[in-house]
Amino acid sequence: MGQPQVRFYYKNVLADVISSEHGITLAQLKDLAKKTEALISWLNKERKDGKTPYRDLPFRAEISQQVKKLVAEIKDECEIVVVFGIGGSVLGNIATETALNPYFYNIDDRQRRGPRFFVFDNIDPVQFGSFMDWIEDKLDKTVFNVISKRGDTAETMSQFMIIRRMFLEKFGFDGYKERVVVTTGAKKGLLRRIADTDKLRSLEIPDGVGGRFSVLSAVGLFSAAMCGIDIDALLGGARDMDARVSREDFFKNPAAIIAAINYYFYNQGKKISVMMPYSYHLKDLADWYRQLWAESLGKAEDLKGNEVHIGPTPVKALGATDQHSQIQLYREGPNDKLFTFLQVDDFGTDLTIGPAPDCAPELKYLAGKKLNALLNNEKKATEYALLESKRPCLTVLFDKVDAYTVGQFIYLYEVTTSFAGALFGINPYDQPAVALGKAATFALMGKPGDGYEKLAQQIRSMTDVDTAYLV
Ligand code: PA5
Repeated sequence: MGQPQVRFYYKNVLADVISSEHGITLAQLKDLAKKTEALISWLNKERKDGKTPYRDLPFRAEISQQVKKLVAEIKDECEIVVVFGIGGSVLGNIATETALNPYFYNIDDRQRRGPRFFVFDNIDPVQFGSFMDWIEDKLDKTVFNVISKRGDTAETMSQFMIIRRMFLEKFGFDGYKERVVVTTGAKKGLLRRIADTDKLRSLEIPDGVGGRFSVLSAVGLFSAAMCGIDIDALLGGARDMDARVSREDFFKNPAAIIAAINYYFYNQGKKISVMMPYSYHLKDLADWYRQLWAESLGKAEDLKGNEVHIGPTPVKALGATDQHSQIQLYREGPNDKLFTFLQVDDFGTDLTIGPAPDCAPELKYLAGKKLNALLNNEKKATEYALLESKRPCLTVLFDKVDAYTVGQFIYLYEVTTSFAGALFGINPYDQPAVALGKAATFALMGKPGDGYEKLAQQIRSMTDVDTAYLV
């Protein structure tokens, strides 16, 4: 038997299924194929020329070797691993853990293959404070992985400085050094300077790999390997997908088709892209996708410098939960969305529903059925209901959820993002709008230089509360 696969199904966006007003005809799809095929060759060339270094990550054996070596050095002594980072620097870590570790990983010792695992991607003082209270007497057996590409992100660096102080007070300098692993740029940046000065253990984020394209580098691999995830299988799945998304034939290239269909429907006024997994394990991959899609494709300017203000709005939902939260809007609200379901064939486990109580014979239709079948039939039911309302639906099918298929999915959507960027004519690898927010935070928190004082005044004049408007 071959490896499990991730496949892509697109029949339910066709005009034959949801009407020519809302669907795409085969002739339109062929036109789209022609336009996109030129971009496949172009992206393959960009990749060969080293312009998309994230594409090479699954092939760089030295990265996983370095990660495994470090994990072997520290895993036995470590009972808790905590990741600090934000945005693209941790959403992939969260998604792979949710996908590949048991739901009760942190709670049930029998189910754990590594240390307990926590990610802090926020600086809420209540949440972070209560975590610090809990961890204080466990610090001895805790490793903190601080991830920041730029190395000066205020949220991540504040978290780091809190635990640094705590470690220094409790264990002195050597104790601190033993318990912190830094993942940051190889040469540049403040965190690299700190790692070198404090002689911390460190891993590298390769040049040219942005946060949201970095999960298959040491960024995602270290915490995954610490928690017993098979990183070789994860990278193997990505390599498998690399061959598929490099195919020059549009109809054989899943990334090209997904991007092209999204691009087409965006231009038809369906500017919202909903990803809805029918699997709890896949829930945070939809969150990862949301950031990848939003930060990569939401751009003010195209590559020629024209003002375009373009980009689909990604939304995440979860089946079956959100059938009771969103579907009313999705079916009867504006027809402005393209739906992508994530569906799992083999859940690897199943539960049988018990018998109906005598007083409730109406429930007999459920008795003896499997939850697996109920969930997948709910996916079909929702898809059918949306199709009845002429809403376009795509499905990504996982034979099963394991490291190999998750690696495929991650790589598939990273490359889809590159295709979508090329179709929209924008640069998917930068995030100028995020940079302004970062600079504004520096200014408000009193960072000297770079015109921050002036910027702080300007921000305050616009954001200090004017009580005339406060009710
Ligand atoms: O995807 C991205 O590039 C961003 O979301 C960054 O990962 C995020 O802003 C954090 O940046 P850094 O890793 O430099 O701290």
